[in-house]
Amino acid sequence: EEVKVFAPGSVSNVGCGFDILGFAIDGIGDEMILKKNDEKKIRISPVNGYENLPTDPKKNVAGVAIQALLDDLGSDQGFDVEIVKNIKPGSGIGSSAASAAGAVVAVNELLGSPYSRLQLVDFAMIGEEVASGDIHADNVAPATLGGFCLIRGYNPLDVIHINPPKDLWCVVIHPQIEIKTKESRELLSPEIPLKKAIRQWGNVAGLMSGLYTSNYELIGRSLEDHIVEPQRKVLIPEFDELKLSVMEAGALGCSISGSGPSVFALANGKETADVIAGAMDTVFRRTELDYKIYVSKV
Ligand code: HSE
Repeated sequence: EEVKVFAPGSVSNVGCGFDILGFAIDGIGDEMILKKNDEKKIRISPVNGYENLPTDPKKNVAGVAIQALLDDLGSDQGFDVEIVKNIKPGSGIGSSAASAAGAVVAVNELLGSPYSRLQLVDFAMIGEEVASGDIHADNVAPATLGGFCLIRGYNPLDVIHINPPKDLWCVVIHPQIEIKTKESRELLSPEIPLKKAIRQWGNVAGLMSGLYTSNYELIGRSLEDHIVEPQRKVLIPEFDELKLSVMEAGALGCSISGSGPSVFALANGKETADVIAGAMDTVFRRTELDYKIYVSKV
């Protein structure tokens, strides 16, 4: 018996919500095939095209996530894991989270579903820690549960599903360079001046209100991240120009996706999303960089 899963990529932080907000992206993600083995070992096949991804289960996000689940269950069951990666690692669209989430969802299924989806987020988060050096669930929660998630608290984990307005669209540009989440977190200052924190709290609350009341204008003016984006944008080629162009093209707001280098914009309606995708393309066509652009419903 084997289980095949599709684990979606995700946009985390969503502007002002560092480590607490994330949503799954339609149609882009990892495909994984898992089956039990009789050797009491987690075996991870080499991942096509990504030679530098570890196959040692103690270093691979999928392996560590599976082990966390098995330890909790007190099981020594072995598994063979095949991963088809469609998202480049270090993308800012939840590549490692997709693998960690897909792995625990499939293993849970093969074991007769001892855990709820929500409980699986905990194990996926332990897997993702290998890649980011820190505990955060803003990619693994949407990758495991789907949709738009708020991580209200971490201890204990408290995940809240949010229903976004029906015409909210997202455009993501993924420059094909790698930014390691760990490094992108290390450069952040641990201190936040109170005045900046106040602006950010206002935005997080405004964004929640806008999402719940389908107030696109409020979503737009609440999205701005005053804390993390200014510190990280230096890592992203063409960031300021890109943001300016997508705002001119009608975006509600624009920020870094996860820890970068991907950048996302939100739009009211598919038509505007397509115009934004065109604007992103125009900015990046002038560079030497390879890139991909995705348009997806939030
Ligand atoms: N919230 C995390 C960060 C997401 O920004 O570091 C990593 O993809």
